[in-house]
Amino acid sequence: MRSTTTTSFFGAYIIFMLLVSMTACGESKVKTDPTDAKVEEILSQMTLRQKVGQLNQLKHAKLIANNHKETDINIDSAVINGDVGTFLNVWWMKDKRHYQKLAMEHTGVPLIFALDIIHGFRTTFPVPLGEAASWNLPLIERSARIMAIEGTSSGNMWTFAPMVDISFDARWGRMMEGGGEDPYLGSQIAAARVHGFQGDDLSANNTMLACAKHFAAYGQVEAGRDYNQTTVSERFLREYVLPPFHAAEKAGCRTFMNAFNDYDGVPCSGNKFLIRDILKGEWGFKGAVVSDYNSFEEMVDWRYAKDRKQAALKAIEAGSDIDMMGLVYMDHLQDLVEEGKVDVALIDDAVRRVLKLKFELGLFDDPFKYFTDGLQEKEWRHPEYVEHARKIARESMVLLKNDKQLLPLSKTKYKKIAVIGPIDAKPETHMGTWSAAGPKEDVVRFTEGIRNKLGKAAKVTFEAGCADEHTADTKALNRAIRLAKSSDLVILTLGEGQWFSGENTSLVDISLPEPQVQLAKKIKALNKPTVVVMADGRPICMPWIKENMPTILESWLAGCEAGNALADVLFGDYNPSGKLPVTFPANTGQVPISYLRKATGRPTENGTRYLDASNEPAFPFGYGLSYTNFKYSNLKISTDSLKLGQQLEVSVDLENTGQYDGKEVVQLYISDLYGSTSRPLKELKHFKLIALKKGERKTVHFTIAEEDLKMWNEQMKFVAEPGEFQVQVGTNSDVVITKNFILS
Ligand code: NOJ
Repeated sequence: MRSTTTTSFFGAYIIFMLLVSMTACGESKVKTDPTDAKVEEILSQMTLRQKVGQLNQLKHAKLIANNHKETDINIDSAVINGDVGTFLNVWWMKDKRHYQKLAMEHTGVPLIFALDIIHGFRTTFPVPLGEAASWNLPLIERSARIMAIEGTSSGNMWTFAPMVDISFDARWGRMMEGGGEDPYLGSQIAAARVHGFQGDDLSANNTMLACAKHFAAYGQVEAGRDYNQTTVSERFLREYVLPPFHAAEKAGCRTFMNAFNDYDGVPCSGNKFLIRDILKGEWGFKGAVVSDYNSFEEMVDWRYAKDRKQAALKAIEAGSDIDMMGLVYMDHLQDLVEEGKVDVALIDDAVRRVLKLKFELGLFDDPFKYFTDGLQEKEWRHPEYVEHARKIARESMVLLKNDKQLLPLSKTKYKKIAVIGPIDAKPETHMGTWSAAGPKEDVVRFTEGIRNKLGKAAKVTFEAGCADEHTADTKALNRAIRLAKSSDLVILTLGEGQWFSGENTSLVDISLPEPQVQLAKKIKALNKPTVVVMADGRPICMPWIKENMPTILESWLAGCEAGNALADVLFGDYNPSGKLPVTFPANTGQVPISYLRKATGRPTENGTRYLDASNEPAFPFGYGLSYTNFKYSNLKISTDSLKLGQQLEVSVDLENTGQYDGKEVVQLYISDLYGSTSRPLKELKHFKLIALKKGERKTVHFTIAEEDLKMWNEQMKFVAEPGEFQVQVGTNSDVVITKNFILS
């Protein structure tokens, strides 16, 4: 690092503020964004080195980046010299306060502190894919709001969430962090999460910057292998990948993160087409783009840059604003400008974006606003947040099979209940990978949740049955069988451990591990009433279980209230309403798989097929049962001959014909029967979560706008093409009733 004299912006800033308030009393009629003027003023005071510092995000940990040992960088000096604009992973409030104090004393420009707050800060919610299965947008938004409240109470101002990557490939364990496979559902969830984190007022002290990630096509990594190359077309990108990002941007998301993968041969951190043309160009994004962890330097490994310096050049030219812990900008941007290779205007633009975030957060007014003592004690695990965790966990659970109507269980019938399976052995399993400050001690395991529900009415005992999810153990198996034999109900919990979904957890085979299948077979042979509860962060293939076990519930990794939520569902205090946000493949060879597939030119039985397996998934997108039954009838559309620009009104009658009150996600799909490019079989366009008492009937209304009929045409324009369409309404992507109309 070079040494330069440090200028204090603070004095200049105060004088400037006085000037601004004096002009405000005057007569000026010209409307300008006051923040922009302040940003310009500060920018004009900065040296090149200080500008570059704003683009440098330091990590607070031992090894700073691949080419820098801890000893290379003295963090205090970096802050004092203005060589850092934002931080990630500064855990303790006292450290944050310390750095902020240094920054304000020496540079006058406050720092932003970022942390991955993904599915809970102190109160842990279900993993994002699980929450997506609730299709309950207000609840999903509330989770993000609570994360922001708890996270900001510990001085965090920026989360690297939501992940809005669409994926059709469950080998990619990162699927756990997203909203599933569908661009429409994914867009709704993206907007809800952004709004939850950022609230209505970013300058409040309990709202934080959101970050839509990973831009873009990270969910399309080839063969489901994390960080891999992608080969998707621009059409695929625009149709399926970009909509949730665009929705996040429209919802006001202030930051975006580069993806680790490449797109069309260019690593995303250096991808002008994605960042300058689409994000900042077509969409007019005014916020800042941050790299992923060292992803600028990784452009060298991609063989896209000859060295770190060229990586810095390519990243800034592409429009990436902030270098997350890679120190590539810090080491090279100044030289690149001085050598005339980088126009300082590019740097100014990036710095403006960072400064603007700091103004929007209100940090220039009060740099210490996020460091209020005593807030943590008040906000962490507030009873309402814990109650919310239970609520969203039970709404996320998806009933996959209930063939013999074993569920809901009687609270009095079963006196000895065995909870068996590796999932409930460790409380942390239920937390998933991004548990931030949520300790495992907070977790209510399945076994405990059932005990809480039944009290003295039943004896509830646990046995793992395996050494862990992947390893058999004969003694453990025998103990489990003995327990099951002496019990009158078995809750068999199967799935994946805490670290088997999330970043860098790709699998070539997403089958349920064999020791668990063997355990299930032994339990089945006992002929006891058995409920299989799956816990995982991605679809798992389990053909034997699906075929042979009549009662299966998907719980995902349900968070700190997993057990209480499960007990609510099992014993009928909550009637399951979750629907799969992602297709469950029947076997790994089918992936990538999605309901958004095309018919192909050979849709018949002997056409596009496998010789050794069916094309059919285990469970389709949108699937999920209830304890009650919902009947769809009387689908009506306002016209069968629609003109461009007009809206189509759709209504359908929904009746609860079963024995329980319940909620149903009514799903509306549009099938475009032909177009200037081949069309998918159907696309989700609307949904409504409807509560009906038993015996109740309601008419559910939807409006289809021209926007809903648009597609990326042959010329890559987003248009509604005249032609024939089909409205499909139903309980999942496979079971629908239909009406056709012509658009002209
Ligand atoms: C890498 C992950 O891909 C990204 O999602 C995360 O936000 C960063 N690491 C920071 O932890």
